[in-house]
Amino acid sequence: MNPAQRDELFAWFDQYVEPFRDTDPEGRINIQLKIDHTKKVCTAMEQLCEGERLSPSEATLAVVVALLHDVGRFPQYRRWRTFRDSDSDNHARLAIEVIREERLLEGCSTEERLLIEEAIRFHNLLELPATMASPTRRYIELIRDADKLDIWRVFVDLLKQPPEERASAATLGLPDLPDAATDACVAALDSGHIVRLDTATCFNDFKLMQISWIYDLHSATSRRLLRERGYIPVLAATLPQRDGIKRAVAKAIAALSA
Ligand SMILES: [Fe+2]
Repeated sequence: MNPAQRDELFAWFDQYVEPFRDTDPEGRINIQLKIDHTKKVCTAMEQLCEGERLSPSEATLAVVVALLHDVGRFPQYRRWRTFRDSDSDNHARLAIEVIREERLLEGCSTEERLLIEEAIRFHNLLELPATMASPTRRYIELIRDADKLDIWRVFVDLLKQPPEERASAATLGLPDLPDAATDACVAALDSGHIVRLDTATCFNDFKLMQISWIYDLHSATSRRLLRERGYIPVLAATLPQRDGIKRAVAKAIAALSA
């Protein structure tokens, strides 16, 4: 993969997403959310590559992983009108389908193609398999962190908007009940675990899940970027201010600074 091939893929992306905008206003907001997300994950990836001192050729590969990681979101939304994988299909698998149908990686070596596809396939797993051959693992960790850095941005932006203007698919349809939080979600965060999406029953649980991702960052650069971007205190401020929740959040913030 050379810089010219990377640039061609960026041009392909812009042209690929265009027809998906041709839908109703709600759909357009949701599609635009994923276009912006993709571009910003690429930027976060560049920052991670710099901080983690990847070589220029490694960084080129990593940025292509970022560009293509969510390309399955577009056919997913067109077909099912949701970004919820459990109600539709695994969007990482859909991304691989798009990559193959569009023959995006035919100019790459076999090793590069396998590496890019594998990093994308694993980018949305709840937890990574313990045994995984490097160097793929490094790219999986990079895309998972870059993705999270931007998902936090999306949610912090979302929280600033009046509920009726929020992109409907971004909240996964969870009810926004100001005082609600599920005990199992608070307990998971309190014990330093990732809150599972399938245990979330309201929007506050979703915020707890996002705070718990602190425990799933893979590099000092990711933690530094998250601290600099200041997302966690903003999320935390919108949660119910009960002792159990405050304690669990304080532990996570302490872990981020450690
Ligand atoms: Fe993503």
